[in-house]
Amino acid sequence: MEIVIVPDAAAGGELIATAIAELLTGKPDALVGVATGSTPLPIYQALAAKVRAGALDVSRARICQLDEYVGLPKGHPESYRSVVLREVLEPLGISESAFLGPDGSASDIAAAATAYDHSLAEAGGVDLQLLGIGTDGHIGFNEPCSSLASRTRIKTLTEQTRVDNARFFDSLDEVPHHVITQGIGTILEARHLVLLATGEAKAEAVAQAVEGPLSAFVPASALQLHPHATVVVDEAAATRLKLTDYFRATYAAKPAWQSL
Ligand code: PGA
Repeated sequence: MEIVIVPDAAAGGELIATAIAELLTGKPDALVGVATGSTPLPIYQALAAKVRAGALDVSRARICQLDEYVGLPKGHPESYRSVVLREVLEPLGISESAFLGPDGSASDIAAAATAYDHSLAEAGGVDLQLLGIGTDGHIGFNEPCSSLASRTRIKTLTEQTRVDNARFFDSLDEVPHHVITQGIGTILEARHLVLLATGEAKAEAVAQAVEGPLSAFVPASALQLHPHATVVVDEAAATRLKLTDYFRATYAAKPAWQSL
């Protein structure tokens, strides 16, 4: 795993947007997996700025979703499909036809989850998957004790995650209890994993994921199994890491032609 410590969230967003731009330059129809939540917003803002400046062509890019709430009506503003349309596709000018996501309103959720896994494989696999990390160490909605080999499936949210996400709804009661999430095994199939964590609230989860043992109790520790995983943290999210000097020195020695 490569750990990159950046001064702040905006710098993390710019760095990751640059890596996505490099990917799309080499592979214009790359499949980019996006994450929801507050953390990745600086990435999407930096990407949109590149598109507006004419520095990035996303006309052939394809986008896919990491997870989705179960049971919200189609078009609900907080369904992750709506969030990705609003925060990623519209600002970048990418058509919905280039977007893959699981159907959280399907009558057969298990079948919808399996179908989504298959659609990712049929699309040639995910080239770069963006990830956030929960305060409980989850990636996607793979809550603690998710199988490290899990496929896309239905999961029950922990109370902590529902409380963390209640800010997007009018009340905690409105936060769904169930989700469809790419499994950890599914996530590990992406060719490059890029996790962004910002703020002190994430510092403990980051330290456990990066420097703790591989454990289903900390799903993000599964990144230790991936040959090309990058963890970008701001100074606040890096405060519990022990090897910060080594991580800074390693990144400083990276060849200038490669951003991540
Ligand atoms: P956040 O969510 O970016 O809103 O903190 C991250 C996550 O739960 O994966």
